[in-house]
Amino acid sequence: MKVTPWEVEGKIDYDKLIKEFGTQKIDETLLGRVKRHAGDLHPYLRRGFYFSHRDLNLVLDDYENGRGFFLYTGRKPSGPMHIGHLTPMILTKWLQDVYGVNLYIEITDDEKFVFDRNAGWDKIDGWAEDNIRDIAAIGFNPDKTFIFRDREYIRHVYPLVLEVARRVTFSTTKAVFGFTNESNIGQIFYPAYQTIPTMFEKKRCLIPCAIDQDPYWRIQRDIAESIGYKKTAAIHSKFLPPLTGIFGKMSASIADTAVWLNDDEKTIAKKINKYAFSGGQPSVEEHRKKGGNPEIDVPFQWLRLLFEPDDAKLEKIEGDYRSGALLTGELKAILIEKLNKFLEEHRKKRERADVEKYMKTGKLAQKMWETHY
Ligand code: TYM
Repeated sequence: MKVTPWEVEGKIDYDKLIKEFGTQKIDETLLGRVKRHAGDLHPYLRRGFYFSHRDLNLVLDDYENGRGFFLYTGRKPSGPMHIGHLTPMILTKWLQDVYGVNLYIEITDDEKFVFDRNAGWDKIDGWAEDNIRDIAAIGFNPDKTFIFRDREYIRHVYPLVLEVARRVTFSTTKAVFGFTNESNIGQIFYPAYQTIPTMFEKKRCLIPCAIDQDPYWRIQRDIAESIGYKKTAAIHSKFLPPLTGIFGKMSASIADTAVWLNDDEKTIAKKINKYAFSGGQPSVEEHRKKGGNPEIDVPFQWLRLLFEPDDAKLEKIEGDYRSGALLTGELKAILIEKLNKFLEEHRKKRERADVEKYMKTGKLAQKMWETHY
């Protein structure tokens, strides 16, 4: 198993990752506290999609003691977004609604540039624009959210980037990210910028993301206090699995095994029917007799993680699938319908989204353009 911000290989053992990365499991006590604040738990939390954290307990203490906290997440504009990329945004919105806090979203055009020698600015800027629209469609609070592109915002933060950069050695980045002597120096410098939004306020920062981004937070936690900021907190999700099997990561590099936010209805139906790994039996007769296995069935797992928030309905689907009453094709049809509905709604919201508010004219955006760190 290998998990870095750029590569995920092998069958992922999430308990082992918690140990290797030195993070903590999100346990019932923590969930209970969030539930008390929110009145309910987001399905990603309730169903264990978000499974690991750093200092979430301290974030909740800060909230309860009136010190407050803020949220930060991000996206590298490397092409269109798939539904996996949207999941941290969805949980972030839920947290912003529950806690009423500020949110910063970093668009790392610089990261794409230094990590992909084939990508020029024309392409990267086009993807950034497209991705920002998808992100704005989530419906964050326009006065409490600031979305910025690294290249455009750099002059406001360069002194702080340098404060971080001179405290992080090459040998640390080698150990944390696996850089080698062949890595270009843009790659080695880039992590400094990704830590910066955790210092946009003197309060504690909470970062929702998949576990692949955790190495950055390790660097931040090593040095933040020496510059007068708090160690960042984070909550980590598992990877939304690709269509082809539940053990991997939905990845941009294998287009057919991901669901893209711009996939049309026909494409969705075709993809799910053709590629979605099934826990069902090879023939209808056998399936009716033995039933299917929802644990390894991608359509079921996608419903569980993303598209069927109603526990009673999900339980019925699971029971029927296990007993053989529900066939693989029927289960896939349920997913296709839900997924297409979700994408259709998303696209409508995308058209209506007021990107300018998040980037320039909203209250927080305006303040950020007047601030120099
Ligand atoms: P990027 O663009 O690779 O991914 C964006 C976000 O999506 C998460 N992610 C996934 N989540 C669930 N299932 C998947 N299969 C899946 N694949 C990716 C990532 O963990 C990420 O949260 N360097 C970052 C950009 C960034 C950032 C941040 C991300 C800058 N600051 C702060 C999170 C928090 C990147 O390349 O993300």
